[in-house]
Amino acid sequence: MRHDDPRLPTSPGFWRSPLRGTWFTSVLGLVLLVGITVLFVTGLVSYAAYNPDLAPVNDQTPDKGILGFYLFSWPTNPSWLYRLTQGLHVTLGIVLIPVLLAKLWSVVPKLFTLPPARSLAHALERISLLLLVGGGLFEFTTGVLNVQLDYVFPGSFYPLHFYGAWVFFAAFLAHAALKTPTALRAVRGRRLDEGESAAPRPDPPTVSRRGALWFVGGASLLLLVTTAGQSIGGVLRRTALLAPHGGADPGSGPNGFQINKTAAYAGIDTKETGEEAWRLVVTGRGGRTVRLSRTQLLRLPQHSAALPIACVEGWSTADQWWRGVRLRDLAALVGYEGDPPDVLVESIQRHGAFRRAALRANQVADPRSLLALQVNGEDLSPDHGYPARVIVPAAPGVLNTKWVARMTFGDL
Ligand code: HEM
Repeated sequence: MRHDDPRLPTSPGFWRSPLRGTWFTSVLGLVLLVGITVLFVTGLVSYAAYNPDLAPVNDQTPDKGILGFYLFSWPTNPSWLYRLTQGLHVTLGIVLIPVLLAKLWSVVPKLFTLPPARSLAHALERISLLLLVGGGLFEFTTGVLNVQLDYVFPGSFYPLHFYGAWVFFAAFLAHAALKTPTALRAVRGRRLDEGESAAPRPDPPTVSRRGALWFVGGASLLLLVTTAGQSIGGVLRRTALLAPHGGADPGSGPNGFQINKTAAYAGIDTKETGEEAWRLVVTGRGGRTVRLSRTQLLRLPQHSAALPIACVEGWSTADQWWRGVRLRDLAALVGYEGDPPDVLVESIQRHGAFRRAALRANQVADPRSLLALQVNGEDLSPDHGYPARVIVPAAPGVLNTKWVARMTFGDL
């Protein structure tokens, strides 16, 4: 059988949809151009928000090498910054899935063309397409599996998604640079039936190209309304059917808002957190150390701050009223009056990532950064980190360590 036999996908005659053509591919391509650029930027921003250059405990991709060239001190203003950037990253990633699939469908005949390489230049082009298509599918799949809590890939999500993003985006940039002029010309000139993926012998249409685009847009809209509520909150949280964490009913009362790790999951034993057993150990300049019970912490000046929790999985809460001791006041207790330094925070949790996390001096210095003892007028519940937890404006959720046992101030 020859590969131009129309019964084989390697033959252009095999592909009969009258929708395929440069115009259809280009409209979808231009949407991806904008959407994937925003995804890449918000993804890199999320990595920076972890302050991976501050301490090895924060860095989930320790071999980042020069890929960490752009890292910067993550700010604390505005307090909803991570809520916005990461909500956008996850929601947009989900909403673009139908667009990506439609784009791949529109060019699938090109992926089957034989011979695989006609020349060295053609071979290089096919390899870049492999990185583009493979990289795209890989990034979208790992992202979705991670937020659906059904992660099955070998190895940690963070390095896979981070390195994958660079490979994918490099191939994406090359492709966009080559195709954007064609795409703009095709969209302006409405060249509907042209293009290498257009069927030479198309079947009669069952839907118009415009209708097919509405179908893709409708699928994206459906994903938007079943996801975005996890980061917007309010009554919309109930519409977040596709968000297993951020949409789940968190119960009622002052502690009735989302969590990602329960005390039971983290292996917290209530015997360790009682008034007799639990002590906060704070160490500072020259090894100066103080040990404080919860009652002693409550006797220190108490401050309030309205801050959200925003998770890397895209869900977030509205502002909650936290009350406790300022991190900079704790630094002052151990010899750092005035300009507080970085801090390493350690939890008593036994299971789950981020048992230890480092915060930068700018985060410690912010007057809204607290070692919280209460939330919304009540003691923290065990799941929200009783006896004490960190809360810092604009920091990713996991850096707000719960069940804190030890804080070590000093340059890390
Ligand atoms: C996830 C992102 C993308 C993937 C996986 C993807 C994949 C592909 C593949 C496999 C082809 C066929 C090979 C070729 O003609 O070189 C193609 C063609 C094309 N792509 Fe993309 N692409 C993506 C993004 C974009 C973007 C951002 C644009 C526009 C700026 C774009 C515009 C085009 C155009 C105009 C063609 C040629 C269509 C034709 O000749 O009929 N693509 N794309």
